[in-house]
Amino acid sequence: MVRARIIGTGQHLPEKVLTNLDLEKMMDTTDEWIRQRTGIKQRYVAANGQGASDLGGPAAARAIEAAGIDPKEIDLIICCTTTPDYLFPASACLIQHQVGATKAAAYDVNAACSGFVCGLTTANAYIQAGIYKTIVIVGTEVVTSRLNWKKRDTAVLFGDGAGAVVVRAENGDHGILSTFLGADGGSGDLLILPGGGSRNVVTKENVDTGVHDISMKGPELFKKAVVVFGEAVQQALTATGLAINDIDVFIPHQANTRIIYAAADRIGLPQEKVFLNIDRVANTTAASIPIAIDDAVTQGRIRSGSIVLLAAFGAGITWGSIMLRW
Ligand code: ACO
Repeated sequence: MVRARIIGTGQHLPEKVLTNLDLEKMMDTTDEWIRQRTGIKQRYVAANGQGASDLGGPAAARAIEAAGIDPKEIDLIICCTTTPDYLFPASACLIQHQVGATKAAAYDVNAACSGFVCGLTTANAYIQAGIYKTIVIVGTEVVTSRLNWKKRDTAVLFGDGAGAVVVRAENGDHGILSTFLGADGGSGDLLILPGGGSRNVVTKENVDTGVHDISMKGPELFKKAVVVFGEAVQQALTATGLAINDIDVFIPHQANTRIIYAAADRIGLPQEKVFLNIDRVANTTAASIPIAIDDAVTQGRIRSGSIVLLAAFGAGITWGSIMLRW
């Protein structure tokens, strides 16, 4: 059977690190509050003028190098981001140019923090259908470009960064075993950036009223996240016929350690199987899972044959899961 197998991973983080102690000097917050409520200790922050492709391009280049392929073999680049360089052209096109993937199609996907799972699901479908053989999926975000540093409820949560994977069609047992996506558009107000799109255009009045700031109903989102994480995991188990004990590594979207552990408890997954890097990189939205995959590979937590479960939730609200055999 043909499967989409991840054959290379990479990441790229900005140089500047902002710790919780740095944030204490910028707003009314404490390192203790942030660590206890979220698990975050620090985050990376892009330089002024640095766009999503400036992080995503180098992450993709590392994944391509790790895969040992020629960029001209790439059929498609999917860039998952909520903070593209421009409204258009797509950041995927900028990345295509940077990495020299001259034969690749390229487009962006926006499903907030579930973006990477959506992108990888799409890549899997192309490969299963025999349309493409080699696809690069990039998750890249400059979320701090959208933060209001005066709003402590959201400013402390996010960070910038990029991760990427190369998937290739392969015969055999290794690769993606199941995919599942869900959405509830009726809960869109739980996490929303109202400004900058076609509804609330950029005007001085709109900027003054704060519509360009992220608005989040944190506690409500928290409760939804625990439930939909559980559903996403259950769907993956049902689709593959695997049991919870078969999972070697669980790589969740890194939104909040408490959400992740609550979801793990709900599904009966031991905490030692959960991979976390939120302490180092914070919530990097669509980049969070590919950065975590690359960290898990580098740290030897994922090896050939490992059963790996990816699960995400994000604004929309959207959620999903992917089970794979490494
Ligand atoms: N520093 C100090 N105090 C703060 C801060 C801060 N940065 N932010 C809020 N507070 C205060 C609040 O004002 C409130 O004070 P009050 O009790 O005097 O009113 C108190 O802390 C508690 O606030 P809550 O919002 O109830 O705190 P909670 O325990 O729910 O934690 C948090 C907040 C971390 C946001 C949590 O609700 C959460 O993680 N929710 C999910 C958020 C999330 O996952 N977002 C992203 C997911 S989707 C995606 O990734 C795109």
